[in-house]
Amino acid sequence: MRLGIISALAEEQNGLIEAMENAAKVTHGMRDYTAGRLWGVDSVCVLSRIGKVAAAMTASILVEKFGVTHIVFTGVAGSGDLGVRVGDVVVADSLVQHDMDASPLFPRFEIPLTGQSRIASDRELTRRLSTAARDFLQNEPGSPQFHRGLIASGDQFINKRAQLNALKDALPELLAVEMEGAAVAQVCFELGIPFGIIRTISDNANEDAAVDFMHFVHTVASRYAYNILKHFCQP
Ligand code: ADE
Repeated sequence: MRLGIISALAEEQNGLIEAMENAAKVTHGMRDYTAGRLWGVDSVCVLSRIGKVAAAMTASILVEKFGVTHIVFTGVAGSGDLGVRVGDVVVADSLVQHDMDASPLFPRFEIPLTGQSRIASDRELTRRLSTAARDFLQNEPGSPQFHRGLIASGDQFINKRAQLNALKDALPELLAVEMEGAAVAQVCFELGIPFGIIRTISDNANEDAAVDFMHFVHTVASRYAYNILKHFCQP
């Protein structure tokens, strides 16, 4: 396995590069790709920045230029369900691009000419991420919960309750909203690369989302990424 690890922002990947052995950085397409051994796993870490195009570009380069065989995206997300709270962790079973709508040519959410609207993540990576997250959460204060299910991505920071409700009407099983996961899913689906997406909930995708997001990424997000990936690499 050569593992590509993507996060949008530096705060979501704090400590990973420092934990790498024999780290070597290559800059390409305005991003730094750092290759090395992370707790024994041959890995390449990179920050995609925010949004679907940024994430798709980063995932493609990881595969085509850096030869990764598996991809994990780790970061934060807004809650997409009342039962999913700030501090909880969501691992995606499948992902949908919530702003994809080529109707009436194709059904809403379907990625044109792929026949896919929800892309399933890799079972084995998802199982390993889930075990790692559960192990980590067990010892966290405040009893954060683990969830597994549908994550939706789009080029929108959702910060209005009405916006989230409209999405939830169309996708009732939605657990979390973010801006990259489903783009990575499409790239990996098309290139035949197994992938997993793990998200810590930073906000409730409502009117308080921006303030909650900023607070959370600066305080908690990086501790989660570091610890969950450590459990993932050393099961
Ligand atoms: N990532 C974290 N919170 C988010 C939100 N509310 N909307 C979109 N992406 C997010």
